[in-house]
Amino acid sequence: MKVLTVGGGGREHAAVEALYRSGAEIYAVMKNANPGIISKSKEYLLCDEKDVARVCEFAKEKGVELAYVGPEAPLEVGIVDALEAQGVKCAAPTKAAARIETSKTFMRELVDKYGIEGNLGFASFDNAKDAEEYLKGIDHEIVVKPVGLTGGKGVKVQGEHLNSFEETMEYINEIFDQNIGGAGVILEERAVGEEFTQMVFVDGRNIVPLPLVQDHKRAYEGDVGPNTGGMGSYTDGDHLLPFITQTEREEAIAILQSIVDAMAEEGCPYHGTMYGQFMLTVNGPRIIEINARFGDPEAMNVLPILESGFTDICWKMATGTLGKDAEFARKATVCKYVVPRGYGVKSESGHEISVDEKAIAECGATVYYANVDVKDGKLVTGTSRSVGVIGIADTLEEAEQNCEKALEHVVCDAIVVRHDIGTRALVQKRVDHMRELRSA
Ligand code: AMP
Ligand code: GLY
Repeated sequence: MKVLTVGGGGREHAAVEALYRSGAEIYAVMKNANPGIISKSKEYLLCDEKDVARVCEFAKEKGVELAYVGPEAPLEVGIVDALEAQGVKCAAPTKAAARIETSKTFMRELVDKYGIEGNLGFASFDNAKDAEEYLKGIDHEIVVKPVGLTGGKGVKVQGEHLNSFEETMEYINEIFDQNIGGAGVILEERAVGEEFTQMVFVDGRNIVPLPLVQDHKRAYEGDVGPNTGGMGSYTDGDHLLPFITQTEREEAIAILQSIVDAMAEEGCPYHGTMYGQFMLTVNGPRIIEINARFGDPEAMNVLPILESGFTDICWKMATGTLGKDAEFARKATVCKYVVPRGYGVKSESGHEISVDEKAIAECGATVYYANVDVKDGKLVTGTSRSVGVIGIADTLEEAEQNCEKALEHVVCDAIVVRHDIGTRALVQKRVDHMRELRSA
C-alpha cells in the first residue's frame, strides 16, 4: 500500500520504520532531510509540513491511499480534512478532533461536560488582569500553561519553576505580551504524583491500548530544569510501570475511552493514535494533557516492539475497523534522546554529528534520527532533539545498559544526554515517591 507520512522527527522515523516493516511503500513529506526516513522512502518531498496544498498535491501525484501524520502542527491547520477530501484515508484526526490537543481549554471543558474522571480544577483567561484576580482568590498551587501549542515547552509549575505570586504573574504577563501559544492562558490545579503516558490506537469508537511509558520532561538530570518536549523514556517488559497497578492503568484507559466516546457524540470522532499524559495521584490518575498523536519520544519505545503490522493498524484506525488488540513484544526499552547543547533554553545547532547504525545494532539497540539535517553532504544538528537511541532487552536494567553502550556510537562535540533515564536509581526514586504518597 502507498502511504504518505508527514513529519521528520524521531517519532516519525519510528513510524516510517514500522510502516515499512509491515509492507508500506513510503512517500514522505518533511521539513528536514531525515536520513532514516529517506532510506525507507520510495520518494520524499522537503517542504513546510503545514503547507497543506503542497502536501495534498504530492499525495495526489503519487496516488497514496493512506496517510500517517506525526506532528500536531499540520493537524491544527487541517491537513487531514484536506487529504480526506481528495480520498486519502487518514490515521490521524481532523482539525476539529485535534482540538483535544490544540486547545487545552477544549480538552478540559469536554472532560467536564461529560463528567469524565480525572479532570483537574482549571480556569482560562484572555487577559492578565482576570488571571491575577483569580490567582488572588485561590489557596492551592497551580500550573501556568499557554492555551495553544508550544511544542511542550510553555508549561511552568508553581513550587518548581514559579516560586512566588510575583513570579507567577510575571510569566502570565509574558505569555500575553509575547502571545505565546496564541490563545490565552489556562491555570490548572497542580497534581502531585508520578507521571505516565498511556497511548491508544483509536478508530472513531474503539480503542486499543499500547504499553505504558514514562517520559522525562525536565531538561537536566535529577528531574530539574525547564520543561522540554521530552528527554527520554522507558517501558517495562510487562507493559506496566513499576509504580502503577493494573487497576490504575485500567482507570486511565477508561478515561481515554470516555473521551473518544464524547468526541463521537460531539460530532468530531477521533481517528489515529491518542496520547494520554497522566499524573498518578493517591486518588488515581489525573489528566495532564491529551495529545492528538504519538508521544515523542514515547513512539520510539513502543513502535520497535510492535509485532502486529502497523500499516494494517493505520488502515483500521482510518476506516473504523480496529479489532481488539495489538501485539507488542514483552521487552523492556530505554530511550535516551541526544539533544543539542543548550536545549530547553537556547540550543546550539549546526554541529556535525555522526551515527554508527551498525555498531548501535550490535549493542542490542536501535537509533532514530530526529531534528538533524544534511548540509554540504554532512549530517548536522538542528535546534531541537537530534537522535533517539533505544536499548531493547528482556529487563529494564539490560535495556538501559544497551542504550548506554549504543550512545558511544553517536559522536558530536555539542550534545547533551540525560544519562539517568531508565537507571535503577531513578526508577527506584519514582517507586519510593509513590510509596511515600500512598502511605502519607
Ligand atoms: P504538558 O506540556 O501539559 O505535558 O506539561 C509539561 C509538564 O508540566 C508535564 O509533563 C508535568 O510534569 C507538568 N504539568 C503540567 N500540568 C500539570 C498539572 N496540572 N499538575 C502538575 N504538573 C503538571
Ligand atoms: N513526550 C511528550 C509529547 O510528545 O508531548
